[in-house]
Amino acid sequence: MNNQILVQALLSLPNDAQESIVDKLFVPNFLNSLGFSLMETVPKFATGNGSDTVDYAARHNTEDDIFISSKSNPYLLLEIKGRDVNLSEGTAQYKLAVEQIKRYLLSQNCQTVKWGIITNSKHIQLFRKHGKIIHPASACLAIDLNNLNKIVKDIRQKIDLTTRALTVAIYNNKGGVGKTTTTVNLAAALTLIGKKTLIVDFDVNQQDLTHSLGIKPTKNTFFLCLEEKKNTTILKDAIHSYILQVKDKRLIFDIIPADEKLFETDEHELRQIFKIPRLSQILNNLKSEYDYILIDSPPNWRFMSQSAIYAADVVLIPTKHNNIFSLENAAIAIKKLIPQVQQFRKDSGPIALPIFFNGEKMTEAQESTTHQAIDNIIEQAGKDKDNKFDLLPYFYPRSTQNRKDRHIFELPSYAHIANAAFSHLPAAYKNKIARDYYLALVKEYFLQ
Ligand SMILES: Nc1ncnc2c1ncn2[C@@H]1O[C@H](COP(=O)(O)OP(=O)(O)OP(=O)(O)O)[C@@H](O)[C@H]1O
Ligand SMILES: [Mg+2]
Repeated sequence: MNNQILVQALLSLPNDAQESIVDKLFVPNFLNSLGFSLMETVPKFATGNGSDTVDYAARHNTEDDIFISSKSNPYLLLEIKGRDVNLSEGTAQYKLAVEQIKRYLLSQNCQTVKWGIITNSKHIQLFRKHGKIIHPASACLAIDLNNLNKIVKDIRQKIDLTTRALTVAIYNNKGGVGKTTTTVNLAAALTLIGKKTLIVDFDVNQQDLTHSLGIKPTKNTFFLCLEEKKNTTILKDAIHSYILQVKDKRLIFDIIPADEKLFETDEHELRQIFKIPRLSQILNNLKSEYDYILIDSPPNWRFMSQSAIYAADVVLIPTKHNNIFSLENAAIAIKKLIPQVQQFRKDSGPIALPIFFNGEKMTEAQESTTHQAIDNIIEQAGKDKDNKFDLLPYFYPRSTQNRKDRHIFELPSYAHIANAAFSHLPAAYKNKIARDYYLALVKEYFLQ
């Protein structure tokens, strides 16, 4: 019934309706169709960022906390535009709206928010917030009378899910840049701050992650999970726990080790047996049980890494400042490989996080050479006739339109990090300095 009302609301809108008309005729019905009553929505919600207000905040009431009166702990933000604003993906007005909703999502009074929507009733896009990270949870969809109900139903289904992990693929086509080391220490650092974490060794050829923790690869358990169509009971057998008892505290993260049968099966056969989205389907079933799922990927662009990137919300890319190939490969992943997967997935995901430098000391002279190389990579990508791409935010995330800030996060070289694998204990558990490095990485990329 409601849905018919929403269709009527859309029909009643003039083609060039300004924001106030979209707000009046469409938005109340839209929020209602997402399951929020009038008492559960606050218009012109103050974000706490100066005098900024977002058009609507929403949250379900609890018995003793009525959102419209307490105005605290919002769950969803909605930013509306007029139909005279072109919100189709890639336009300047679309980019501005995305920047705006991101700013609101990260603002002081919106820390509890999990979802953000931009719409002008012609286009709509859903974003998800997890800690500091904001990633698209749908493509920017063109609304029409036929698909409106389906779009609203899909959004509602997504926002009704509460605890969900952020899935991070750790990837660089270049070998030896610290993917595995980052994965294992990130898991340890996240565990130390109480985040429930699962890591997946999807570099089944090298199996470094599995070996570095002193865990035996499985014989075919995970292979069977990938093979099964929907059965998740055997999945439990594929998950091991890595436990460290420190005095009266137990530190636990989970791991899906490399699988021998996956290793023995060649690429061609793998592609016959499973499809690329299969890993994603399996991990989606586990998302409600973890805060973070980290996938270690191999240094190539084949079945395993494609599956890992397909399964990810975001891709974390370690590089080495003094290795031009690691920087160029990062650029290729960002402007070419990840967009390939985005096209395949159709929900605008995954997105690349800004690169970081791992494990090499840097002198001032080297720093200047590295920045020159990066400036060059950015310039070339911006001039590419066939695939023009703005790499700036992925290399220099603190840069703005008016000011270039060359900050790139650095995880220093540290002997304890290199040696830790011998003792089967993550360096972040074993050594205070290593721990601080990885906690800084967690803070820089993930925590709000
Ligand atoms: N921050 C660091 N400080 C010191 N050593 C490091 C650091 N990061 C990684 N290493 C060391 O560098 C080597 C390569 O790291 P790692 O195996 O994690 O790279 P990788 O990208 O996973 O490699 P591959 O592409 O082969 O999978 C390892 O010996 C590791 O111990
Ligand atoms: Mg590795």
